[in-house]
Amino acid sequence: GHDEGIVIAIDGPSGSGKSSTAKGVARARDLRYLDTGAMYRAMTWWMLEHQVDVDDAAAVAEASSRPVITMGTDPSAPTVHVDGHDVAQAIRTHEVTGNVSAVSAVPAVRERLVAQQREIIAEARREAAGIVVEGRDITTVVAPDAPVKIFLTASADARAHRRSREVRSSDVAATREALARRDRLDSNRAVSPLTRTADAMELDSTGLSLDEVVALVVKLADEAGAAV
Ligand code: DC
Repeated sequence: GHDEGIVIAIDGPSGSGKSSTAKGVARARDLRYLDTGAMYRAMTWWMLEHQVDVDDAAAVAEASSRPVITMGTDPSAPTVHVDGHDVAQAIRTHEVTGNVSAVSAVPAVRERLVAQQREIIAEARREAAGIVVEGRDITTVVAPDAPVKIFLTASADARAHRRSREVRSSDVAATREALARRDRLDSNRAVSPLTRTADAMELDSTGLSLDEVVALVVKLADEAGAAV
């Protein structure tokens, strides 16, 4: 109905500034926030914890219905729990980061998490002003009808510097190499690869401050809201 909340979909490669942008927009307009990458990371953490061989797609598919992943969607304090454990820190380790592309390429994993993401979006549209959702397949698969669809990019250098700061690494070259590897895997997989659709607005954050990027997306959201 006309009183349903707005959906803002943001896709882009690692280090493009998606998370900071999405949280900033959600706070600015009192929307909820969903980090779908955290859900793929939580699934990967559970697989590693339960000694599932992540390179065995059949084993990953079979196990994928077992973990209970719970997302908190307050942009000022987002949370992620697996089977009741707070895994906010645990899903950011090198081990999880190095294995998440393999797990997220398994169709059964994506089916399950996309269904859960759509439930979270539907709830936010009923119970809040809407939601900002970020990931790799939000504009294409999860919420293709979202009135605001953004493909956020940045130069490889800008992304490597940003990610190095996030993980507190001084080795920018190694970070750049790891990002390139993960982007290759995420963009070339068979199911829901990272792609820009013609109707997603491309926004290059290279050389822009976070506040500037947030302001641009808020403006697009306000225009889309006004058009409803
Ligand atoms: O955004 P991130 O770097 O935390 O995402 C972690 C991984 O999860 C990323 O390498 C690809 C995968 N992912 C995905 O396949 N689909 C999404 N919607 C979000 C993330």
